[in-house]
Amino acid sequence: MAERFPKSDSQKSILPTSADELKPVSQPDLLSKFIQAKATHPDFMTDNLVTTMAVSMAFAGSETTAISLSSVFYYLLKNPHCMANLLSEIDTKAKEGYFKDNETGLVTWQESQNLPYLDAVIKEAFRLHPAPGLILERVVPASGATIAGRFVPGGTIVGCSAWVVHRRKEIFGEDVEVFRPERWLLGEEQDEEIELGKEDKEKEEKRIKEMTGTMLQFGMGARTCIGKNISLLEIYKLVPSFLRRFEVSSPLFLFIFPSLVSGLGNMDGERSEWRDGNGLMANRFD
Ligand code: HEM
Repeated sequence: MAERFPKSDSQKSILPTSADELKPVSQPDLLSKFIQAKATHPDFMTDNLVTTMAVSMAFAGSETTAISLSSVFYYLLKNPHCMANLLSEIDTKAKEGYFKDNETGLVTWQESQNLPYLDAVIKEAFRLHPAPGLILERVVPASGATIAGRFVPGGTIVGCSAWVVHRRKEIFGEDVEVFRPERWLLGEEQDEEIELGKEDKEKEEKRIKEMTGTMLQFGMGARTCIGKNISLLEIYKLVPSFLRRFEVSSPLFLFIFPSLVSGLGNMDGERSEWRDGNGLMANRFD
């Protein structure tokens, strides 16, 4: 892995450290909110519940985000043309003066929202390797329910698997097993970038909307992931900030982040594929 970013001339550390001046916190964090809830709802929010909630957030938000981030890098390294496209998008924007921070290379959330190829890469990684490995369960209400034309008695546990849903050919195309970020871009069928007519554009928007609405990596409905926006913030900022700054290739990447990319091995060798392990979270193994 090589530094792509010019070193800062200043003597200060490039990234903030604990020694840096502490800035006042403008937003309360989750723990502060739980403690505040204890003050306003003492009958419900006990000390025990404050601890449980804080620990649950750490569990729910760490491995899920790590799995999703590592799959973004895994698929980029496995598909060098996608990595090249993404770097080209980032570098072109940088040359146009699009990014505000040219000292540390950090990309803001707002800036990350105008990088269409980055968006396509992240969505495609979520599609091929969604973090939840087991079905997302729901209990049918006592009255029963008709699901997909079939009556299911009350109390039955039903559920959907993101791994199955994300591979529906009628939604995502015949090549569902292929990492192809272009499927998330308007006019993906075109060999070269051309201006789409109004009708074609509407068709394309409908196709992408249908794919977006089918994605299940964060679950769906009333019990959907409550940390989704935190994770998206982390992922959409980290990937471009990291790639602005470092040039990565697989063996060194493996050396630097062994746990993050466990199972990556030598991308050209026998261990070039992940072995997916199933569980609550779909992890990978050597
Ligand atoms: C990429 C990262 C993440 C993924 C893929 C993910 C995935 C999921 C999934 C699939 C569910 C179940 C949804 C359902 O049954 O419909 C869920 C629920 C939940 N997630 Fe996440 N999550 C992520 C990050 C986070 C973070 C950062 C937090 C907290 C800070 C968090 C907190 C929760 C909580 C508390 C629930 C339970 C919600 C409920 O039952 O009402 N998650 N997550």
